[in-house]
Amino acid sequence: MTEHMFLSGLYFGKCALAAAGQDDHLAAQKVRIHACRRDDGGYAGNEVYPSHLLYTYSAVQLAILYNQPELLDADALEAFVWSRLLPSGAYYGNDPSDTDTRFSYCALATLALVDKLQPEAINVRQAGEFVLACQNDDGGFGLRPGCESHAGQTFCCVAALQLCGLLEKANHDTLKGFLLRRQQADGGFNGRPEKASDGCYAWWVLATMAILGPSVLGAIDKAAAIKALFRLQTPAGGFSPRPDESPDLFHTHFAIAALGVLGHESVAPMDPCFCVPRTALQRYRRSLDQTQATTTDAS
Ligand code: FPP
Ligand code: ZN
Repeated sequence: MTEHMFLSGLYFGKCALAAAGQDDHLAAQKVRIHACRRDDGGYAGNEVYPSHLLYTYSAVQLAILYNQPELLDADALEAFVWSRLLPSGAYYGNDPSDTDTRFSYCALATLALVDKLQPEAINVRQAGEFVLACQNDDGGFGLRPGCESHAGQTFCCVAALQLCGLLEKANHDTLKGFLLRRQQADGGFNGRPEKASDGCYAWWVLATMAILGPSVLGAIDKAAAIKALFRLQTPAGGFSPRPDESPDLFHTHFAIAALGVLGHESVAPMDPCFCVPRTALQRYRRSLDQTQATTTDAS
C-alpha cells in the first residue's frame, strides 16, 4: 500500500532515528534515492512512478540526513520546481488541476535547501501571494483560497511564507488564535475544530508556533503535550495517531519531531521549518558550502 511513497517513508524512518540519536540503520537504502530521480529533475516516490514535488522534497531532506548535498543537482531541481508553478502562484502535483499549499511548501523548501530561492524574484513573490490568499478569517490556512482551515496546511503555508519573506503579511493575531485552539483537553492537538486529537498535529501545530516565535510556542501547556505524545508510544516502539491504535512510520516520525520542537531531552532539537534535526541541517549547510566552493574553484 505504501510502496509508491518509499522516499517519504525512508525520510520518516531516517529522521526519527536521527532525532532519537540512533542513526545508523538505513545506510544501505541511500542507493534507492538515485533510482527515484526522473529525467525532469524531480524525484518519484519509488522507482517506477512519475516525479512529484512531495517526493522531491523528501529526496532533499534525505540528502540532509545522509549529509550528501552532492546527491542533488540544484539546477535540475530548480527547473523541475518552476515547471510546477501556475500563473496563479499555485503549485500543482500530477496535473494542473491538482493544486495544494502542501506543494507550495515542498517547492519553496526544496529551492531554499539547494540555495536557489531568491525572495525578491517575481515567481517567488507570486507563489507567496497565493499562499497569503489561503488564510481564512479563523486565522488558519487551507488547501487553496476559500478552503477550510487545517493545521497541516497551516504549517505548510506559514513555513512557505517564512521562506519567501512574506510571513509578516499574514494576520498573526487570528493565526495564533487558530493554533492555540488546536490543543485539546487531553493535552494533544487536532487539525481542525470538533476533531479528536492526533499525534501528528502536535508537529504541525507546534512547529508552526515555533516558526512564529518562542512566545507563541510558550503559550501552550507543554507538560500536557508531552504526556499526550508519550501516551501514543506503543509496545512495538512506534507511535500511533491516537491511543490504542496501530503505530506507523508517519506518526512515529512526527511524534518524535514534536518532542524535539518541545525541547524534550530524549530527542535532538528540530528545525521547525524543514523538519530535520538542527545539527543535521547545520552539517549539511557546511557540506553544501564546501561543495559549491570546490565547484567554483574547478571552474
Ligand atoms: C488527514 O486529513 C491529514 C493528515 C493527517 C495530514 C495533515 C498534514 C498536512 C496537510 C501537511 C502535509 C505536509 C507535507 C509537507 C506533506 P483528515 O481530513 O483525515 O484529518 P482530520 O480529520 O484530522 O482533519
Ligand atoms: Zn495524523
